[in-house]
Amino acid sequence: MTGQHKGPDLNRLIIVANRVPNPRERGATAGGLAVALREAIAHRQALWFGWSGQTAEATAAAPAETRQGRLTYATLDLGEEDYRRYYRGFANATLWPTLHYRLGLAQFSREDYIGYRKVNAAFAAALAPLLRPSDLVWAHDFHLFPLGSELRRQGCRQRLGFFLHVPFPPYGLFSALPRSGELITDLAAYDVIGVQTEDDAANLRAALIAENQPEAATRVAAYPIGINAEGFTALAERAILGQETARFRQSLVGRALVIGVDRLDYTKGLPQRFCGYGQLLARFRQHLSRVTYLQVAPVSRGDVAEYRSLRKELDEWVGRINGQQAEPDWVPLRYMTRAVSRPTLAGFMRLARVGLVTPLRDGMNLVAKEYVAAQDPEDPGALVLSRFAGAAPQLPGALLVNPLDPDEIAEALDQALTMPREERLARWRPMAEEGRASGARAWCLSFIAALEGGG
Ligand code: G6P
Repeated sequence: MTGQHKGPDLNRLIIVANRVPNPRERGATAGGLAVALREAIAHRQALWFGWSGQTAEATAAAPAETRQGRLTYATLDLGEEDYRRYYRGFANATLWPTLHYRLGLAQFSREDYIGYRKVNAAFAAALAPLLRPSDLVWAHDFHLFPLGSELRRQGCRQRLGFFLHVPFPPYGLFSALPRSGELITDLAAYDVIGVQTEDDAANLRAALIAENQPEAATRVAAYPIGINAEGFTALAERAILGQETARFRQSLVGRALVIGVDRLDYTKGLPQRFCGYGQLLARFRQHLSRVTYLQVAPVSRGDVAEYRSLRKELDEWVGRINGQQAEPDWVPLRYMTRAVSRPTLAGFMRLARVGLVTPLRDGMNLVAKEYVAAQDPEDPGALVLSRFAGAAPQLPGALLVNPLDPDEIAEALDQALTMPREERLARWRPMAEEGRASGARAWCLSFIAALEGGG
């Protein structure tokens, strides 16, 4: 089979994702998926298809294409109404909370659901004419549950794979979502169905079986996503010598740094985390004026109501903690809502004594893996991690916490800040090794092998 060869006759890979990286923004601002895939597909022809990130009066029928070596980007503008119903509505205000176990936050509107299906059909109609018979099609994430069945409707016979980057909840929860049965049934159109963890796989299999798709249930498997650990370590090693990190280090005047890096999203547990840090300062007084917590939380999905109210809530938390605890020469919590480049973050992570990653639910969480990769092997920091992040089973050296319990966060922070170097080394080493062994490239290649029919 051609997929076994190394060389130009590898099957072309078609990546379909709502977000397509901007070819001009290499590296610095690229998200986890873009970075992971770029590594693994360097040796084959690939087409990356999805939304342009722009809106227009109506959704475009044919994509705009940009070539970059072996990689072609093909993107569609979305019509204003389609953007509202598909992206802001069903994907981000209905599916996102439901898949993260937050049914109480989910809003359902039949118009949004119809818009979501309509955009999936429009993607399939625009993609189908670009496909060659031997192409492998790999669709990503919750925006695209129906894409596979829409492609089949267009007559596509190519191998189709689907990977869900976010959690899949127990069927009892997911089935409360109106029309959820249709979404589950849609997944049966895919030849390979990947999720992040064994728990997600068990939940999705049970859902497929409950919706009379027992054969599709056998095609579900866990493929935990990783990062390019060597690349991130190199980035951190370079950045630590740079001016930006030097200026930041100077500003800390010897205080221990705690770092958090998350999209400003209600799944990340930021209010509980801020409260936990407040508890640390209130209960463990020896850290007063000796620790600085930097939270980088770039604004995300700012036109969805829940995200706007979260932003307000966090502004209040920051004001409260700093107002109560600050000294004229000490700001306990530094908070930024603009994006910071990856190299800069890598340097800051290396500088940090503690990585604080406490999502209420997360498909994987690559920041936890980046924090591990960024550490100095002679003097690594400690990781405080939510037990509800998909990464938790892979990072046994982390201090695991229940992210809903601010006291537990405070206790783990105290333990991390006072942890002797020997213990930090013993906890960090196996995590760093595991991170290098199960990286982005291995993840990508194992999924593609399954898609080629060999996995
Ligand atoms: C999560 C999702 C991705 C999404 C990203 C950024 O990681 O799993 O599919 O692209 O968030 O969100 P956005 O809505 O800006 O694409």
